[in-house]
Amino acid sequence: MTFDIRPQTGRPPDVASSWRPPQHQKSAPAMPQSAQFDPAMTQCVVRSFAHFAKRTAEADATIYAVLSSCIAGGTMHDLASSNRADVDFLRQICLAAQPGNPPPNLLFGAVHELLLHPQSDPSPEQVDARRELVRFYPTMHAFGDDAAPRIETSDLLASTAHAATRRQDLFEAFVRFARLHESEIGQRVRARRVQTNEIGRCPALLAGFSWIAEQAGRDRPLDLLEIGSSAGLNLLFDQYAYEFSDGCRLHPTAHPDRFTATPPVLRTEVRLSDTNRPTPPRMDIGYPVIGQRLGIDLNPIDVHDEASMRWLEGLVWPEHVDRLRSLRAAVEMARREPPTLIRGDATRCLPQVIEERFPPLLEPQTPLLCIFHSYVTYQMSRDDRANMVQTIEQLGQRRDLAHLSLEWVSSGHFPRLTARVWIGRRRTDVTLAERCHHHGRWIEWNGAANEATTPGC
Ligand SMILES: C[S@@+](CC[C@H](N)C(=O)[O-])C[C@H]1O[C@@H](n2cnc3c(N)ncnc32)[C@H](O)[C@@H]1O
Repeated sequence: MTFDIRPQTGRPPDVASSWRPPQHQKSAPAMPQSAQFDPAMTQCVVRSFAHFAKRTAEADATIYAVLSSCIAGGTMHDLASSNRADVDFLRQICLAAQPGNPPPNLLFGAVHELLLHPQSDPSPEQVDARRELVRFYPTMHAFGDDAAPRIETSDLLASTAHAATRRQDLFEAFVRFARLHESEIGQRVRARRVQTNEIGRCPALLAGFSWIAEQAGRDRPLDLLEIGSSAGLNLLFDQYAYEFSDGCRLHPTAHPDRFTATPPVLRTEVRLSDTNRPTPPRMDIGYPVIGQRLGIDLNPIDVHDEASMRWLEGLVWPEHVDRLRSLRAAVEMARREPPTLIRGDATRCLPQVIEERFPPLLEPQTPLLCIFHSYVTYQMSRDDRANMVQTIEQLGQRRDLAHLSLEWVSSGHFPRLTARVWIGRRRTDVTLAERCHHHGRWIEWNGAANEATTPGC
């Protein structure tokens, strides 16, 4: 039997930013009892799971690929007809998600968090349901306390009867767990935001900061202002170790002025989109010099807040044991010296924050303000996104500035890494990488071939 991922009609970011729960859900109880759905909203939920099914299948994240496809309806032929009510039940939970926050991440994040961090005093049924489900989750085998035999999930999408049986078992174990933790899951889906703080994006950001530092002069410090910083872990990019497949290595403990605890090591395969192009920015010569660090987020996350850290862990996909390990190491480091984060909507408060925190100084060689963001603009409306870019553009015409972006563009399935600097009123643009893997497994360099300088703008 073929595992059917429904045809895609767009890319995940559009679904995310267009996700709007129905108004009546705002004050509705956690789990509306009615089986009546608002068909438009249900369709929106269905589409977001269909996109997520495709995205996770491509990333070999088979557990979510299967579950998403079941919830989207893509494998209804695979599921027993009695499961239709279960699918409706899961879709219903998702209707409470906040605008801009993709329901699959919220639902799966809530369940994963509850598996990783079980609540005290579970009922015997809850203990039993958890034991069944954790057998599918590799993170639970790496970090959990259960010794239950593991179920192989790498070939879960295979076209065999055996794989089809395991898909059915996975879905039923997931639903059973979800039904027994309905209020905890519903509460998370309603209240939480998709705030995955992924330090695997730091290799791409490091490349961007290195290119900016080259433009600014390597000794000139960069002041970092991150939009959508979540817990601010990417503001600490220069505390992590890097190993690129082309041999480039960077390790903070090799630098005498740095903190020497064991840092997370981020390994990235280097791909060239065109081997004739020049090589990417030099990174092995050292980390750029950093001045201030500040993050803005609609909901800044405090690394000392245990509940928030559990949620960040829940958002990691269950096959990605190494990501969970890196996240824990980064949080440990951030707790020693947390970056400053402020609450705000960056599409509104950017000029004021910059005026107050980063006033332009007249002396030469003052730090270069570097605004950056990764996986944030898909959560903004199209107008807000455009306004923010325009605000940055206008600022760049008045002061030295850099803008680094790791975001989806309309044409692509993977995000693009672009950088822009305004130095001495000259603007230089570059697309450093046409495509970057979502969690940093690979970067496809463009090199600096398409650099374009606009004098006197
Ligand atoms: C998916 S997370 C990405 C976090 C981090 N940039 C990373 O790549 O690991 C998106 C973050 O952007 C924040 N965000 C979304 N819209 C925002 C806005 N208008 N202003 C400030 N933060 C925003 C969210 O709260 C969330 O923490």
